[in-house]
Amino acid sequence: MSVITKYNRISYVYDLMEFMVEFLKFGKWRRLMLSDMGGRVLDMGVGTGKNLEYYPGDCTVVGIDISPKMLEHAKKKAKGMDNVSLLVMDGEHLAFKDDSFDNVITTFVLCSVPEPVHALQELQRVCKPQGISTNLEHMRSENAYIAFLEDVFNPVSTFFMGVNINRRTIENIKKAGLKVIEERNMGLGNVFRLVRSRPKKTASCPASTDHVSQYS
Ligand SMILES: C[S@@+](CC[C@H](N)C(=O)[O-])C[C@H]1O[C@@H](n2cnc3c(N)ncnc32)[C@H](O)[C@@H]1O
Repeated sequence: MSVITKYNRISYVYDLMEFMVEFLKFGKWRRLMLSDMGGRVLDMGVGTGKNLEYYPGDCTVVGIDISPKMLEHAKKKAKGMDNVSLLVMDGEHLAFKDDSFDNVITTFVLCSVPEPVHALQELQRVCKPQGISTNLEHMRSENAYIAFLEDVFNPVSTFFMGVNINRRTIENIKKAGLKVIEERNMGLGNVFRLVRSRPKKTASCPASTDHVSQYS
């Protein structure tokens, strides 16, 4: 089942499914991550728009998602938020110019994007050289026992939910060419982490320029 089909299907129950963990943990983490965000921000894989309420009002937020149905729910949450625009788009092929965002973020996205390194390279490409990429993600634990369990159950979680629970996200961030500047353990033996990284490029030397850009 493709990512689009999967998220289109679960879009109706997604918020309900995560209600408890959102209330207990995720909401606090989102606030911590987003409350000091500034400038023009790209929220890749914005989903049903759970992050939107946490951005400061003076942020300009562009949320993209590959699932039109997830975005429909985000659009309801974004009603009245003039600083938010939402677009159907593949994170692995962003239709934005190089260096067009002050900051770029993902929350719980890099586990389901088919090619996470491609998505991270795209995040880097559209982020200004002085900008920051922030990722709140679950990933393969550094605890050997938890990592073993993640490896064992990954085929099950990918088969039923299309979610990879054992991705080496820190390595993927580095493979994409970003420089990790902060890595914070958020819980469950390093499974949940908040990672901040910087693009490794200068204004005169963008990471890549070979994309046809539709949006500025
Ligand atoms: C687990 S949800 C997370 C949604 C939201 N960020 C949150 O924190 O609740 C993952 C989201 O990533 C989106 N997604 C997966 N692959 C994508 C891609 N290649 N491009 C854009 N969005 C993608 C899915 O459609 C889904 O909405």
